[in-house]
Amino acid sequence: MKTIYLKSIDSTNTYLKSNYLSLDHMTWLSADHQTKGKGRSNKHWFGDSDSLMCSVLLKTNLDYEKIQMLPLLAAKSLHQVLSKYHSNIKIKWPNDLLIDDLKLSGILVESIIEENQVRAVIIGFGVNINNPSFNEEIKDIATSLSLATKSNYDKEPIYQHLINQFESDYDIFLSNTKSIIEYSNQHSALNDKQITFSHQGEIVHAKVVHVKDDGHLLVETKTQQMSLYSSEISLIK
Ligand code: BTN
Repeated sequence: MKTIYLKSIDSTNTYLKSNYLSLDHMTWLSADHQTKGKGRSNKHWFGDSDSLMCSVLLKTNLDYEKIQMLPLLAAKSLHQVLSKYHSNIKIKWPNDLLIDDLKLSGILVESIIEENQVRAVIIGFGVNINNPSFNEEIKDIATSLSLATKSNYDKEPIYQHLINQFESDYDIFLSNTKSIIEYSNQHSALNDKQITFSHQGEIVHAKVVHVKDDGHLLVETKTQQMSLYSSEISLIK
């Protein structure tokens, strides 16, 4: 394992993606500022030195089924680390962490595919740690550990704990994915909840059953059961 720290960068994910050939498996990169932080679905990720922003490079040829489960693995590791500071953090499948339905952290998993083969995977973690407030665009949907617990935290031990937790979870995950799925279900923000999601251009309403052994989310509409893979979903309030 290697760690790199940069004060400022466009995006820790983009850096690892651009330099993956010369970097080792399990290289971690953290930064205090990102000028082009990336979120899921091409959204911008807002973060500054109050946030923990880091990415890890996996140089792996895992099969596609396992790669699909990496978001759940990353969420499990981060959840376990942050649960030391707050006892009611939930996992919104596949990998957002919430406190009282507000977003505490986001995870972005990107794969590098060449000649139809996965060469590497980059997992980026954005965690709101000491943020005292948020900008207009996200103020109603975001929270930080500090806002939720009324304390401030040193980011470094949280980061070191995440590195250790993820690396040990990754070793287990290579031979057994069951415990990750169980963990996702145990701490799910969605099980038994009504959700909406977009499917082939239609807005669908459904009730969540659970996360299946393959990492997909099983939901029930009025007429059928459906298995979702990481589509953008949103809770009905
Ligand atoms: C999401 O949309 O929920 C995912 C957000 C992921 C943000 C992190 S911050 C560190 C890493 N670098 C990026 O550009 N994005 C991820």
